[in-house]
Amino acid sequence: MVPAERPETLALRWPIGGQAPLPQRVQNRYSFAVGVNQEPFRRVQSAIGFEVTERGWAELSAGLVCDAMVLAVDKETGSPVATAVGEQREGWIELGWVAVAPKHRGRGLGHAVCHRLVTHLLAVGQTRLFGSTQDHRSAALRIYLSLGFHPVLRPEKLQRWRAVCKQLGVPFTPGLWA
Ligand SMILES: CC(C)(COP(=O)(O)OP(=O)(O)OC[C@H]1O[C@@H](n2cnc3c(N)ncnc32)[C@H](O)[C@@H]1OP(=O)(O)O)[C@@H](O)C(=O)NCCC(=O)NCCS
Repeated sequence: MVPAERPETLALRWPIGGQAPLPQRVQNRYSFAVGVNQEPFRRVQSAIGFEVTERGWAELSAGLVCDAMVLAVDKETGSPVATAVGEQREGWIELGWVAVAPKHRGRGLGHAVCHRLVTHLLAVGQTRLFGSTQDHRSAALRIYLSLGFHPVLRPEKLQRWRAVCKQLGVPFTPGLWA
């Protein structure tokens, strides 16, 4: 079973036998790299207002396996602008730290870094993948759903999932997500 998410979040899991989706098109202005790289990661997090301390980085990097970090760079400025990370958790890999610098949002970068992370993890044989986010984070929920993740329908979160699907205009289909 997917590790328990926090009460205030909703979890999504990669389906058994799931296939990596086709990539969406992103402007040629951006380049992508897979691999753990502290400085650009910290810069992207800082751009969304989150300062990663040395201690925070030490904890994060201890849980990183299979080079599970994707970074996007704006080739025009050389600045890192988006990231996503996969951390080990109870025999699963949790996708997280998904961040896009504000000026670069709405261009498919969030989707692109998550897509590359999932593709990378599947390619190295990791299929027990999950992510979680809060109900109001529509962009993050859309990213996970459009990549093919399934809602984790815990009984106490069923109604919240029903409401989220309605809000996103996504069919609520528990039978397909079992
Ligand atoms: C969430 C975040 C990573 C999205 O990055 P992004 O590059 O703007 O996202 P994309 O352009 O790839 O869009 C992804 C999807 O969200 C939708 N979307 C984008 N911005 C949105 C918004 N403000 N409200 C609702 N939906 C939105 C897009 O239409 C797209 O949906 P689709 O795939 O069904 O077409 C970015 O907003 C961010 O860094 N937010 C702060 C940190 C955060 O919330 N991280 C996720 C927590 S787990």
